Amino acid sequence: MSSQDVAGYLALQRFLEGAAGIVLGPGNEHLVASRLASLMREQRISDLRELTRMLEARASPRLRTAVIDAMTMGDTAWFREPAHYRMLVDDVLPAVSASRVRIWSAACSTGQEPYSLSIAAQEYLLGDPARLPGGVEILATDIAQAALDEARRGVYCGALAGRGLSDERRQRYFTAQGDCLSVRNEIRQRVLFRQFNLTGGIQVLGQFDVIFCRHVVGYFATERRREVLGRLIQALKPGGFLFLGPGEVPDGFAADLEERTAHGATAYRRR
Ligand SMILES: C[S@@+](CC[C@H](N)C(=O)[O-])C[C@H]1O[C@@H](n2cnc3c(N)ncnc32)[C@H](O)[C@@H]1O
Repeated sequence: MSSQDVAGYLALQRFLEGAAGIVLGPGNEHLVASRLASLMREQRISDLRELTRMLEARASPRLRTAVIDAMTMGDTAWFREPAHYRMLVDDVLPAVSASRVRIWSAACSTGQEPYSLSIAAQEYLLGDPARLPGGVEILATDIAQAALDEARRGVYCGALAGRGLSDERRQRYFTAQGDCLSVRNEIRQRVLFRQFNLTGGIQVLGQFDVIFCRHVVGYFATERRREVLGRLIQALKPGGFLFLGPGEVPDGFAADLEERTAHGATAYRRR
């Protein structure tokens, strides 16, 4: 790598950490090159130095969004960590006292997580609709605009479209269109999508009974992670539950959170 390339890579690291909190470790040069190649070709940008100069000059908000979209790792699946959903339905929803439950899928990527939450809620309510007379409302947010656009479309195509779905759920909650699966209205209508940067200031979204914020805080540097976790806890109602990804632990918040386990899953209940 030339010294120019190294300088470009370091500048991109600084940009991503400042804009989205994401820490791009060393040794990810190939990942960066492959994720940004088509965008740079399209925009006729010759190298990372030029790209980061344009980002720093704030020349184009669209370029900024496109780089964040390309570099945020949107990997997701239906019912990812199935034990979390079992715990939600068997232990968490029955413990919620509100008549209308508010759930936040914070970092929802292309929508599989909030729609899985909506399916889980549907199945819970089918058991006894009187359990939550006010129903369930799901707010789904992400920093990546392209992921949110796909999430709002709610149509998933190709061989991996149904990854994580049982045949029964696929038939019950989706309409098949060729090799695509389209989420049915009864599942969509509970979910509201909105762009939101977890590391960006103090926008207020209200308080929630349940927050799923999985496979994202692990990308943040320690101090940033603490700030984000602190804000997530503030957004939980007392007695509300926080679900994080495996290996994402709310260190330093023992006074605020009590660890609960069920079905082999762990969640954190706000005291
Ligand atoms: C690996 S995906 C996880 C998706 C889903 N939560 C799951 O567990 O399947 C990480 C998501 O975090 C989003 N993300 C990254 N940094 C973010 C930030 N600062 N604010 C909000 N979302 C962010 C990315 O755009 C991406 O969609």
